[in-house]
Amino acid sequence: MLPNVQRTDAADHVPVLAEEVRELLDVRPGETVVDGTFGAGGHSRILVEDLGGAGKLVAIDRDSTVRPYFDRVKASARGVQTRFLRGDFAVVLSQLAANDVRADAVLLDLGLSSMQVDRPERGFSYATDAPLDMRMDSSDEPSAAEVVASYDEPELAKVFRTYGEERYATQIARGIVRRRAEEPIERTGQLVDVVKASIPAPARFGEGHPAKRVFQALRIEVNHELESLEVGLPAAWAMLRPGGRLAVISFHSLEDRIVKHFLRERARGCTCPPELPVCVCGKEPEARVLTPKPIRPSAREVDDNPRASSARLRAAVRI
Ligand SMILES: C[S@@+](CC[C@H](N)C(=O)[O-])C[C@H]1O[C@@H](n2cnc3c(N)ncnc32)[C@H](O)[C@@H]1O
Repeated sequence: MLPNVQRTDAADHVPVLAEEVRELLDVRPGETVVDGTFGAGGHSRILVEDLGGAGKLVAIDRDSTVRPYFDRVKASARGVQTRFLRGDFAVVLSQLAANDVRADAVLLDLGLSSMQVDRPERGFSYATDAPLDMRMDSSDEPSAAEVVASYDEPELAKVFRTYGEERYATQIARGIVRRRAEEPIERTGQLVDVVKASIPAPARFGEGHPAKRVFQALRIEVNHELESLEVGLPAAWAMLRPGGRLAVISFHSLEDRIVKHFLRERARGCTCPPELPVCVCGKEPEARVLTPKPIRPSAREVDDNPRASSARLRAAVRI
């Protein structure tokens, strides 16, 4: 199946908090920009404009189907050197940093693109029956179906509780183990049925889709999303030149907490215990945080693009 770039533009990802990212990253001609989550290249396209025909764009994505979007950005980026690297940004950024590649601006826009969510065959959506896949990189293992088939009941419950903050994690895990003893759970529709059958009736009609949290949890587990962020943030930071800027957009509190702590730690100076009369650690702040509070999308942006509603943007400059 062709990626959505071959279909209508209506399915393309709309970049979130685009003007705010542009302002915080403040890209100038001749600089090197790293977009660690290229997607449809909406943010990259804007940042390339700010390069004013001179500089470099390094685009990273673990999903090979974004390649046609990159080719489009490349074709319009006259005078700017562009490179696409396919892989997990945790790995790619670490390799770039280890090879002394330096950047002036790094962007991580976490989570899924609209193309991934809206293509039923990717298995991310509880709204359509499709194979239970959920891999951003389809060559990775395991898929969501393999997780559901192989994790034991406590492991499944832990995933749903930790990554989905699912209240009925234990009941749903038990429901899955029972159902898979009868038949393999290989489709999103089967998983939705098990979730519905495992939770109390009133919860089936509560706020949002009853399987939303389970799907979020499985997706985070399948793609090791929080581990990638934990490794990717210090790697991105290591690449930044003095004066370089890092911006991160997250879409749920688990991600945002990691970003907040990471930036706070970099901005912190002396870590000596308060009872010491003088500093002995000598630690100097490495960062100036540009967003004391996370930036949220305006009501107007959410109206135009409801998928932006949970976005939170944080940024810092390397001192
Ligand atoms: C929210 S979309 C980015 C959209 C993009 N900023 C735009 O304007 O089109 C997230 C993209 O990042 C990719 N992605 C998520 N986590 C990743 C990771 N750890 N390494 C590499 N790519 C990742 C996904 O495959 C997806 O294409």
